Amino acid sequence: MDACLEGRCDGSGFLYDEERRRAYPCTCRPKRLARKRAGAVAGRLPKRFRGVAFDREPVLSIARANEHQVRAVRAYVNAIGENLDQGRGIWFTGDVGTGKTTLAMLISKAALEADRTVAIYSLPRLLAMLRETYDEDSHFSLSELIDRLCSVDLLHVDDVGAEQTTDWVLEQLYTIVNTRYEDGRALLLTTNLVGREDPEGDGHPAGPLKRQIGERTVSRIWEICGDPLPLFGDDNRMFAADRLPAAEPEPPAAPGGWDPFDDSTWDEEPSPYGRPRRSA
Ligand SMILES: Nc1ncnc2c1ncn2[C@@H]1O[C@H](COP(=O)(O)OP(=O)(O)OP(=O)(O)O)[C@@H](O)[C@H]1O
Ligand SMILES: [Mg+2]
Repeated sequence: MDACLEGRCDGSGFLYDEERRRAYPCTCRPKRLARKRAGAVAGRLPKRFRGVAFDREPVLSIARANEHQVRAVRAYVNAIGENLDQGRGIWFTGDVGTGKTTLAMLISKAALEADRTVAIYSLPRLLAMLRETYDEDSHFSLSELIDRLCSVDLLHVDDVGAEQTTDWVLEQLYTIVNTRYEDGRALLLTTNLVGREDPEGDGHPAGPLKRQIGERTVSRIWEICGDPLPLFGDDNRMFAADRLPAAEPEPPAAPGGWDPFDDSTWDEEPSPYGRPRRSA
């Protein structure tokens, strides 16, 4: 049994009045129930990012090119509990290899360390999971999965805009974003589809993203997260092997066999934008 989140009950989620021989729900109970619902999709940091920290590479280098942005991340992390409670999100945009995922992982790490439930997926993986709910051997129904994705304190979606979409998939994505929006729950996103040149567009910086995932969804993301933090710099992936933070020991796998937070392929997934090339 987990200890009481508020230090009040014995961890059962109930307080006992011995005299009246009655049990009352503890104030930790709603959080405890939400955590249980979120349990199967909430997870841990992908292996590659477990050592990520403000005082280590590559964040130090990212900060040299993006001082203001890293300061904003630090401020967000310093008030992580309050930000999540207020449903304030954050999102990053920028070219390939500029450090978006790295900074986002700093935030997820802080949320996990603050004992919050966090689900971390690339958008293509998240959408594949939604589709897989129709498989006969799926562990969840679609509504159960959506319910769980809406229950976590922080939903972290990487690579928004890199996916193949269908109307059905976009509708599910809208449902998740809209439910979190209505419930005041935070989102953490990375994308490279905001602020780029868009000759076909109407001048809105998120034109390509709107075309990719729908205007209603983008509008809600914008309200949850505010203006995206733009990251600048070269594509650092080709030159970054020596700057990776040291890998940290693997935490124990979740009990119960199948682990829906399957980050084992994260490191092997090819970049949807292809391999970066060295310039001559
Ligand atoms: N400004 C930087 N200085 C040094 N190294 C960096 C910088 N930004 C990123 N890196 C390194 O480059 C690699 C790519 O970083 P990351 O995955 O965070 O980029 P990204 O912006 O999410 O890329 P993508 O758009 O392809 O998803 C990582 O190995 C990271 O350590
Ligand atoms: Mg990335």
